[in-house]
Order: sequence, then C-alpha cells, then structure tokens
Amino acid sequence: MTLLAPSILAADFSRLGEETRAIAQAGADWIHLDVMDGHFVPNISFGPAVVKALRPWTDKVFDVHLMIAPADPYLAAFAEAGADAITVHVEAGPHIHRSLQTIRGLGKRAGVALNPGTPASMIEPVLDMVDLVLVMTVNPGFGGQSFIGSALETIARVKAMTAGRDIDISVDGGITAETAGPAAQAGANILVAGSAAFKGGPDHYEKNVAAIRAAADAAGGRDGVRC
Ligand code: DX5
Ligand code: ZN
Repeated sequence: MTLLAPSILAADFSRLGEETRAIAQAGADWIHLDVMDGHFVPNISFGPAVVKALRPWTDKVFDVHLMIAPADPYLAAFAEAGADAITVHVEAGPHIHRSLQTIRGLGKRAGVALNPGTPASMIEPVLDMVDLVLVMTVNPGFGGQSFIGSALETIARVKAMTAGRDIDISVDGGITAETAGPAAQAGANILVAGSAAFKGGPDHYEKNVAAIRAAADAAGGRDGVRC
C-alpha cells in the first residue's frame, strides 16, 4: 500500500487546525507541511509556530518539507514544534550532510529533496544519512501546478540507488488520481498531494484521498514504511 501525505498548503488557512484533523480523519497517512521562505522559493507560507499550533490536532506523522535557505538555523525549531520527518533540499546549501546529521541528531527522520532539474546522483553521497528522498514533480513554491513527467526518471533512478535500504521515496507536486499511478510505478511509496486532496472542501476529502490511493495501488505501488 502506498502512503498518502496531503499537503496543508492547499487547505483553508483560516481554519488550519480543523482542516488538518479533517484530512487525517479522511484517511491521510502523513500530514505534509510545506515551509517556504520567499528566498529559496518565490513564495512564503508558514514557520515553526504554525507547525506547533497544528500538532495537537492529530497524531499523524508530521512530514515537514523545508523550502528554505539556509535551513540549518531552523532545524531545531521545527523539531521542537513537533515535526516527525524533516526534509531539506539538496540545492538549498553547501552542507547537506551536516543538515541531515543535525536532523538525525534531533531524533527525527531525515529527508533530502530534489528539484525537477536536479540529477538523482546529487544525493548519492548522503544515502547513509537519509530516511526519505523527496522527488519534486513541480518546481517548488506553489500548489496547483502541473506534474512534470520527466521527473519520473528521477524517481526510478532514486529507487534503483536506494534498493535494499530502508528509505522512503516521496513524490511531491501535481499528484492526482491520474499521475499517482505513474509515480507509484516509477518507485514512489509516499504521495504528497495538495490540491487533489483538498479540492471541494471537507465533504470531499475522504473520496479524494481514496481516489489517489486507489490509483497508486492499482499501479502496483510498494509498501510504505510506517512510523
Ligand atoms: C510545492 C509543494 C507541494 C505542493 C503540492 O512547492 O512542495 O507540496 O503543495 O501541491 P499540489 O499537489 O497542488 O501540486
Ligand atoms: Zn511539499
């Protein structure tokens, strides 16, 4: 079974607590939290205070995706706020190994993310340091963009590179019931979905989550590592 990680970037920001609880109850496995700084990406979202405020609303894994540079000065704050997994971009700074070491030192699952224009080989030297590889299938910064198909090749390469290791492969950007299948087939076992998970409001969340999951499972997605 493939794990579903809805991104609350697509939720109603005026009622984020209720939205987080609603999507969790609708069948989300993880909650994906997109942190943007207006510097590494051309948009600003929220920081550790919001992660902390949302923590009491669900006990699901908080999968924090940092689209910020530098990331290192904020890792402890996100860990303290309640993140379970913290993902940093390989493009966000010169010391990715140090960032991953810091995240593990904080007792959290360490993730590394790749933009669509970044080759999979960039993360080869740090595979011993990661629990999760996140492959972007849009250029990060905004929800609601179209899936970049060429990134499927990156997912496949990451899958080959991580064979035999206990590493999750997450795909993020433009995931819908149509793109979930190809992404799972290429090797992703965690699907991040913003717009497709939250479209139509709370009454539709269960149906949205089920449709994405069914598409991935039909395509033969591998087991997610639960934590
Ligand atoms: C993009 C974010 C994604 C985004 C996904 O910068 O990292 O998590 O919210 O949104 P959709 O599913 O709408 O592409
Ligand atoms: Zn994300």
